[in-house]
Formats: sequence, C-alpha cells, structure tokens
Amino acid sequence: MIIQAHGLEKTYLSGGHPLTVLRDVDLEVAPESFVAVVGPSGSGKTTLLGLLAGLDRPTRGRVILDGVDIFASTEDERAEFRARRVGFVFQSFHLLPTLTALENVLVPLELRGEGREHRDRAVDLLARVGLSGRMEHYPSQLSGGEQQRVALARAFVHRPRILFADEPTGNLDGETEKGVVSILEELNRESRTTLVLVTHDLSLAERAHRIVALANGEIVSDRPGGGA
Ligand SMILES: Nc1ncnc2c1ncn2[C@@H]1O[C@H](COP(=O)(O)OP(=O)(O)OP(=O)(O)O)[C@@H](O)[C@H]1O
Ligand SMILES: [Mg+2]
Repeated sequence: MIIQAHGLEKTYLSGGHPLTVLRDVDLEVAPESFVAVVGPSGSGKTTLLGLLAGLDRPTRGRVILDGVDIFASTEDERAEFRARRVGFVFQSFHLLPTLTALENVLVPLELRGEGREHRDRAVDLLARVGLSGRMEHYPSQLSGGEQQRVALARAFVHRPRILFADEPTGNLDGETEKGVVSILEELNRESRTTLVLVTHDLSLAERAHRIVALANGEIVSDRPGGGA
C-alpha cells in the first residue's frame, strides 16, 4: 500500500472547546490507484488530504506514505519527501504572487535544483492546460480557473508518485474541466501516479477506481467506482 493511515484524528481547539473534525480514520490506498473522496461541505475532506500529504499534523494516528512514517520524521525530512514524491493541488490555489505562471509551475523543480533543465516540460504542461498565452502572467492577472490550471501544472511537473488534489475542477467550465480530468487520468494511467482526489462532482468521482465517502469526520462508505 502506498498510503496507510491508521486511527487518524484531528481535533481543533476553537474558542476553548475541542472540536473533532476527523475521528478514527483508517485508510489504505493501493499504488497506482485513483481514489475519489466525497462528502458534504465540512465533513473533513480537506483536513484528511492535508494529513495524508503530511502538510498538517494529526492529533492522533499515523500516516505511512510510500514506506515512510511521515509524522515520525523531522519537519525537514517531511519537506524533502514531499518535494520529491508528493504533488498537491490546493482548494485555494496557493500560487506565489510574485512569480509568473511559468515560474510558479517550476517551483517544485527549483526545490530540487532542477528548474533549468525541465523548463520545456513546464511550458508543455501549461500548454496542455490551455495556458500557452499566459505563461508570463502573474496570478493577479489570471482568472480563478486559470490560476487553478497553473496549480495543476505545478502539481504534475516533478512527476510525483502520489498526487493529492482538492477539488481541482471546482472553478472550471465544462470544456476546460474535461481537459483537466483527462490530464489527471492520463497521469494516473501512464505515469502511474497514485491519485487521491476530493470532488463534489459525482460524475467525476464515478471515474475513479474507488470512492470513499466522509460524513462528520468519519468514513461512511468505501466502494468501487466506475473506473475500477
Ligand atoms: N483551523 C481550524 N480550526 C477550527 N476548525 C477548523 C479548522 N479548519 C477546519 N476546521 C473545521 O473542520 C471541519 C472540516 O473542514 P474541512 O475543510 O476538512 O471540510 P471539507 O470537507 O473539505 O469541506 P468543503 O467541501 O467545504 O471544502 C469544518 O467544520 C471546519 O469548520
Ligand atoms: Mg475542502
């Protein structure tokens, strides 16, 4: 299993009261699979993704990612691991405002000191998400959907083993969404990237190998999707 999560709990202390938003979640994900995570707003999807990717610490439980017990590692080891093997598309795009679209896509490679030699791949990815004419634009000069597509290209550029995507098609029109979905599926199939994708779009979820549903911070269903 490329992802193993055991007994994950996340409790926030807000206004002095503990609020448990994820409780006792166990999840194992097979390598090269495509898992959709669905559930109502506030059910804990983004929280779960953040924990699985090692971006946020659980209150309890462990995550073993590609053989590495990520919360038993130091902050630096975790960052290094993410830079090499994990891609993340955030629900809010998290582009760096002082960098152009192309420079934003190159960030994961710069972190590995490989920005220069892979510039062509970044240019190609931006073209594939329909942004050939926007490479030199800054995030403030891009529409919401365009920023989202830059974030997608950035998440793919270093060919991660695992890609976490939080509603990556949330701001796109029908045509652009189809393009993005086909890139995601191709990445999963051809580059063998394990894909864990949060979506509200049930027709997109149905294309996954497996659909995990959350409600109130718990897994309430786990079944094969149409792509299985
Ligand atoms: N830093 C925080 N402090 C307190 N509560 C938080 C914090 N972050 C998230 N929550 C709460 O945790 C719950 C789960 O949030 P989460 O973002 O995981 O939901 P979600 O399923 O991704 O929802 P959506 O579909 O709206 O994106 C929400 O009720 C939210 O209010
Ligand atoms: Mg969310």
